[in-house]
Amino acid sequence: MTDGLTLREVIESDLAVLYEYECEPEAIQMAAFTSEDPTNHDAFTAHWKMILAAPTIIARSIVQGDAILGSIMSYEESGCPEVTYWIGRKHWGRGVATEALTLFLQSVDTRRPMRARAAKDNIASIRVLEKCGFQVIQETRGFANARGTEIEELELELAEREPD
Ligand SMILES: CC(C)(COP(=O)(O)OP(=O)(O)OC[C@H]1O[C@@H](n2cnc3c(N)ncnc32)[C@H](O)[C@@H]1OP(=O)(O)O)[C@@H](O)C(=O)NCCC(=O)NCCS
Repeated sequence: MTDGLTLREVIESDLAVLYEYECEPEAIQMAAFTSEDPTNHDAFTAHWKMILAAPTIIARSIVQGDAILGSIMSYEESGCPEVTYWIGRKHWGRGVATEALTLFLQSVDTRRPMRARAAKDNIASIRVLEKCGFQVIQETRGFANARGTEIEELELELAEREPD
């Protein structure tokens, strides 16, 4: 079901559909650690303008045929690359995030260690990360805008490769 799925550079005309996906209430609840108002279009546009201009951020659209399924990107946090992704609701549950993360790690950003974070109750995202080799290294608490309260968050890491 992920036949022909590829990653390519994000182009400006992708942003309308990525904005739609980032406004989906179920996704916002799940991700939890979002901006204050993910539906604010001006803030979304400014944020993506920054992403596309930043030399330290590697962003890709996840595409299949003509369809844009979501986005995946890595950015630097305290000197370590961190990966994050967002898939449109209608494309959930058919392996898209797992395939996109696999491709991203194989051919887009091969730096290790690579980190990721997820709300502790974001079981689907944690599963995707674990299937790609990430392991939980830390549990913290933080304020989650989408929940309006502090919640538990897991930090995961994909370790350096063992030398052959
Ligand atoms: C989390 C998210 C990326 C998952 O995308 P997806 O394409 O549906 O993921 P996949 O189909 O590749 O894999 C999901 C895995 O989680 C499992 N899963 C999904 N929902 C689950 C749930 N509620 N409980 C337990 N497991 C669940 C699936 O069974 C699958 O595991 P499996 O292959 O062992 O069966 C997607 O839901 C999303 O974009 N959510 C909103 C944004 C977000 O949370 N981003 C991550 C921020 S850390």
